[in-house]
Amino acid sequence: MAGAAQHAHWSSRWAFIMAAVGSAVGLGNIWKFPYEAGEGGGGAFVMVYLLFVFFIGTPMLVAELSLGRRGQLSPIGSMKKIAQDEKKSHWWSLIGWSGVVGAFIVISFYSVVGGWTLAYMAKAAMGTFSGIDAETAQNTFVGYISDPVKTLVSHFAFMAITIFIVAKGVQGGLEKAVTVLMPALFAILIILVIYSGFTGDFAKTIDFLFNPDFDKLLFKPNTAEAIAAGEPATRFSLDTVLQALGQSFFSLSLALGSIMTYGSYLTKDVKIGKSAVTIAAADSAVALMAGLAIFPIVFAYGLDVAGGGGLVFMSLPIAFGQMPFGIVFGTLFFGLLAVAAVTSSISLLEPPVSYVEEKTGWNRRKVAVTMGVAAGLLGVLSAYSQGTNLLSDIKINMLGLELDIMGVKDFLTNNIMMPLGGMFTALFVGWFVTRKNMMDELALSDKTFRIWYFLVRFVSPTAIGIIFGKIIFDNFIA
Ligand code: TRP
Repeated sequence: MAGAAQHAHWSSRWAFIMAAVGSAVGLGNIWKFPYEAGEGGGGAFVMVYLLFVFFIGTPMLVAELSLGRRGQLSPIGSMKKIAQDEKKSHWWSLIGWSGVVGAFIVISFYSVVGGWTLAYMAKAAMGTFSGIDAETAQNTFVGYISDPVKTLVSHFAFMAITIFIVAKGVQGGLEKAVTVLMPALFAILIILVIYSGFTGDFAKTIDFLFNPDFDKLLFKPNTAEAIAAGEPATRFSLDTVLQALGQSFFSLSLALGSIMTYGSYLTKDVKIGKSAVTIAAADSAVALMAGLAIFPIVFAYGLDVAGGGGLVFMSLPIAFGQMPFGIVFGTLFFGLLAVAAVTSSISLLEPPVSYVEEKTGWNRRKVAVTMGVAAGLLGVLSAYSQGTNLLSDIKINMLGLELDIMGVKDFLTNNIMMPLGGMFTALFVGWFVTRKNMMDELALSDKTFRIWYFLVRFVSPTAIGIIFGKIIFDNFIA
């Protein structure tokens, strides 16, 4: 019978925490957060980001973990079961569907970038970056992402690692991987921060990341026409604040079924509230430390702080090619990125795998290989949409934006499925699940429960509603 096998469980709280932190800590922390923080007002951005993580993201972690643990099934199975228990519409299972399908889409392109990290680890180790200038660094990157064979190999190599871990199951695969990889990740990160602190410009980094500039956070340069028409040079804008909210959701792996699935492997004795705070704190610490590792080098070598995605793959190699022990440092850095990406990608393959396993009753190995290869094939479209690769000419118009295939998948998941999934999850636990059942599942103190309940009933849905409304307004109306 489908799903007849006993649903797997974490063997300890520690294993669960490492897995959840592994999911949360990913490419989002290491290059996206530091860059967004620096550009968005330094300490002012960090402050609002941390407020969002602790007042909106953490309560949402609690919500997802508790739904998963109560359901003890895949996100789709759990949502269906809980809605039924609570005598609510079976349409609530759409939250589970959005998570499972969304995770499948995200892993298909996350694995492409994961493949880049593997390729760059190899390049760093082979000394490819020695003495390169900015132009060579750029040509190296664009040449690589435009190569149909190299990108295919690295994408499938990354996917194969993910499949290998997921195929071995929760205790034999996920746990074994994360309990080794996450401590290694922390160790590498600490080494990198120390090394950067000694060789790079630490003082400037502290100023860039932590000096609160509220003007930069809340005001955007006005257009030339507006200034010509006599308006002030800047105008009030919440764009960066909303970006911080979106980043906090992405960074905590919310609303795509990853956390709900990991919650389904929890036993009743684990305290969800305390665990959620630990996960959020570790995720934020890694994001901040990544900034402390990267920016001292960026400043010391005069690289462009506004490099965005290119910062990691096009700018940092220039510094690795010049600094003492650059081969070791560069290899460690891309190794760190690869580890962070692998422990996130397993959490993205897990929701579709747990659903198909439950539905078909196939053994885990067969399901992991089938879903992983399917996502890998879908990912080829993303890999080939970059640089001047085979499908790079295909541009799709999404609500006025000209996007390549990777961009379309990113837009659908990040801007549509994640905010909607998150908002409905908050509404479900806040307004549709019986309060008493929620209290029993969470076993929080009365006071803590009341705070949590207020946050998921009112604060989270409103905040997410504002982001989503803004996306819709920008794309459909403005
Ligand atoms: N949180 C990861 C990062 O920061 C990415 C990730 C893994 C994710 N699982 C997720 C994002 C689920 C959203 C939802 O890179």
